[in-house]
Amino acid sequence: MTLILKRPNLIRTNNFINGQWQNSEQNAHYPVSNPATGEDFAQVANSTVKDAKEATDAAYQAFESWRTQPAKVRSQCLIRWHQLIIKNAEDLARIISYEQGKPLAEARGEVAYGASYVDWFASEALRTYGDIIPETVHGKKLMVVKEAVGVVAAITPWNFPLAMIARKIAPALAAGCTVVAKPAEDTPLTALALVALAEEAGIPAGVLNIITSSRDRVSEVVGVWLSDARVRKVTFTGSTAVGKILARESAATLKHLSLELGGNAPFIVFEDADLDAAVEGLIAAKFRNGGQTCVCPNRVYVHDSVYDDFADKLTKRVASLKVGPWDQADSQIGPMINDRAIEKIQRHVDDALTLGARLLTGGKRIQNDMATGPNYFAPTVLVDANHDMELARDETFGPVAPLFRFHSEQEVIEAANDTPFGLAGYFYSNDIKRVWRVSSKMQTGIVGINEGAIASETAPFGGVKESGYGREGSRYGLDDYMDTKYLCQGNLD
Ligand code: SIN
Repeated sequence: MTLILKRPNLIRTNNFINGQWQNSEQNAHYPVSNPATGEDFAQVANSTVKDAKEATDAAYQAFESWRTQPAKVRSQCLIRWHQLIIKNAEDLARIISYEQGKPLAEARGEVAYGASYVDWFASEALRTYGDIIPETVHGKKLMVVKEAVGVVAAITPWNFPLAMIARKIAPALAAGCTVVAKPAEDTPLTALALVALAEEAGIPAGVLNIITSSRDRVSEVVGVWLSDARVRKVTFTGSTAVGKILARESAATLKHLSLELGGNAPFIVFEDADLDAAVEGLIAAKFRNGGQTCVCPNRVYVHDSVYDDFADKLTKRVASLKVGPWDQADSQIGPMINDRAIEKIQRHVDDALTLGARLLTGGKRIQNDMATGPNYFAPTVLVDANHDMELARDETFGPVAPLFRFHSEQEVIEAANDTPFGLAGYFYSNDIKRVWRVSSKMQTGIVGINEGAIASETAPFGGVKESGYGREGSRYGLDDYMDTKYLCQGNLD
């Protein structure tokens, strides 16, 4: 399994600051490993406080010129970037698969998904309309304009190494902000390749800066941005625990925050649901990226009257999923990101089994002819799950579907909402009245109704409760990167 690219020069291992690819201040590196084999295959810059500060200086200096460009200029930069992403899609997909583990077909899907945000915000850049407020007294004009918030720090996760950074950088640049970015420690190469293409697209020096750092340096490097008053916004996708730290530490300078945090998504199958459609929806939502997404169903509630039938259909389907490395054409589930991820998944399964769950398929780490590396976990179905289990409270972030039994609509709504999190929720029902009733009661930012694939660049992505705030994508997505300024002009008569 080797990483062969049409353009090997898309592999970058240095920081990109003020239009220059440069090593970290201390010339230090850290290793990036391939989750399919557990082997290190690249070394990238291990940045310091000084690198983070240098990136901020560059972004701050570039801001005035970038924000005052005509919207069309910013839009055209994004259009060129989008074209280059599409042109280099196969290489980008391979880099994603190699450092993150997902099968190549899925990585190709991620490139298309991430690129769609760049395309979308290239157009939205042209639509940052303000308002004229009708006069209430003679001789005064009241107007509202939208302005870029300033320097944005974008901190992104490993599960979608391309899509998550694209959907933060694209609206920031469209709005007229400049960016300092730090990709996840495990998956820096995709983000660096994306920035190399942004450079080729002619995004001016200083407008987009990226630095990489190892896990043990993250807090000092990101800390520079949190305490610097010139950084006006932080946008982050990751855990709720880290989101709370970012919110706390950026409070001193009252930064704008977009936090797309952890979920604990319920997936409800009512007695009137189309069970085959619900099984397919659950496969799509739960097993995408091996279960490593914030919107993956974590708790599957099935009505008592269809429970056994649904469990049976689901188990057959899950047992047929092919687990293997990214470069095997029929792989559907790749390796988990690392050993810690596997340990957490196993802990959740073992805890559930101790507390009364029954295992219908999977349940443990696997190694076979296809899945030879250390990080593969068998797609799993558990029945008789209950709310005392750890997997009911905490995201498993792996290919495990625990089935909970319910008897009434009210009971299941209460159970579904019995969590501090509120990113996505799903339900299947063919009763139109129930569809409206349940949709309004779900305490989540996103609701999938008879649908497991909910993500789209045209729709607002984000949560409520401890899943964070802010929205990514859609016509709402640019607002998070803009301030509203009110202009009042008097003495006109
Ligand atoms: C996430 O897991 O954070 C994002 C998933 C998505 O965009 O669908």
